[in-house]
Amino acid sequence: MIRNGCGGCHEIPGVPGARGTVGPSLQGVVERGYFGASRASPEAMMRWISRARDVDPKTAMPNTNLSPQEARDITAYLYART
Ligand code: HEC
Repeated sequence: MIRNGCGGCHEIPGVPGARGTVGPSLQGVVERGYFGASRASPEAMMRWISRARDVDPKTAMPNTNLSPQEARDITAYLYART
């Protein structure tokens, strides 16, 4: 998440230096139940964090083009830790 710049825009519990305020804090993101325009599911989370602009063309979050493996790992982290 550090390498992909997530922390530059998001506060992420447990990730050193992740204190960005451009996007919402990811604390409790799974309980909130929406990621951009999509309903909460691990699949929707993986799609959102890789290609947010394809989900919602108007979002301020850029496409990050994570590898499928990175998307899975980050989704697992967000489900387990935030
Ligand atoms: C350039 C800034 C920027 C970067 C880089 C960025 N995001 Fe975002 N992110 C945003 C913004 C802005 C939103 C709110 C967008 C919206 O709802 O339209 C958002 C929304 C989200 C959401 C949904 C939050 C919610 O409450 O619905 C998640 C999850 C998320 N980002 C994860 C990530 C992850 C993981 C990364 C790194 C792979 C990342 N973001 C990189 C700006 C960014």
